[in-house]
Amino acid sequence: MKISVSITKSKYNIVETLNKLNNTDADFIHLDVMDGIFVPDKLYSYYEVEEFITYNKKPLDIHLMVVDVKKYVDEFANTNPEYITFHLEVNANIGELIKYIHSYNIKVGISIKPYTKIEEIKEFLPDIEQVLVMSVEPGLGGQKFIEEVIPKIKLLKEIKEQNNYDYLISVDGGINEETAKLLDDADILSVGSYVCMNDYYQNQINKLRLE
Ligand code: DX5
Ligand code: ZN
Repeated sequence: MKISVSITKSKYNIVETLNKLNNTDADFIHLDVMDGIFVPDKLYSYYEVEEFITYNKKPLDIHLMVVDVKKYVDEFANTNPEYITFHLEVNANIGELIKYIHSYNIKVGISIKPYTKIEEIKEFLPDIEQVLVMSVEPGLGGQKFIEEVIPKIKLLKEIKEQNNYDYLISVDGGINEETAKLLDDADILSVGSYVCMNDYYQNQINKLRLE
């Protein structure tokens, strides 16, 4: 199981948080980006990220909660991310956005909100490298895990195996040592406050990996 740590909610300032994460075996930094339109909050302009991201030594897994995906892709491509994930619910030309991100040689993720059905993302599954299943409503760290998403994760795994697709299944929101037990079918746990609101980051990550 891979671990992608969201730095959205932390006991420490951003630079301290990144330095602490550099000293763990976390696989990715999960960077939540919010535009204040797709979700009410605004989080990290590219200029802010440019300042602190130099402290990060992990591969970047960017989660865009924004309406104007292309604008943010143009900016955040400069951070050399491994993945850029955007939301299926942006109501744009999804096929075109997939090609746009690939044209930067960046892997593509599509995220779905807790109550969006797998049926709606199905046609794009052959073409992407990550499906980010939201297990809370996007917009805030520290919310409670929504268990109704479990069958969707199972279904995504079945579709992947039946068709030999390449995407990794990531789950985002409300992950802790208890909810992680429900997520055997996932490939990546995207976890924020469970790790960063604690002093002992590696210890928290170890507990997730045990499940
Ligand atoms: C929610 C974000 C999540 C969140 C995870 O909008 O996409 O990545 O910060 O934080 P926890 O693990 O605290 O739910
Ligand atoms: Zn996220």
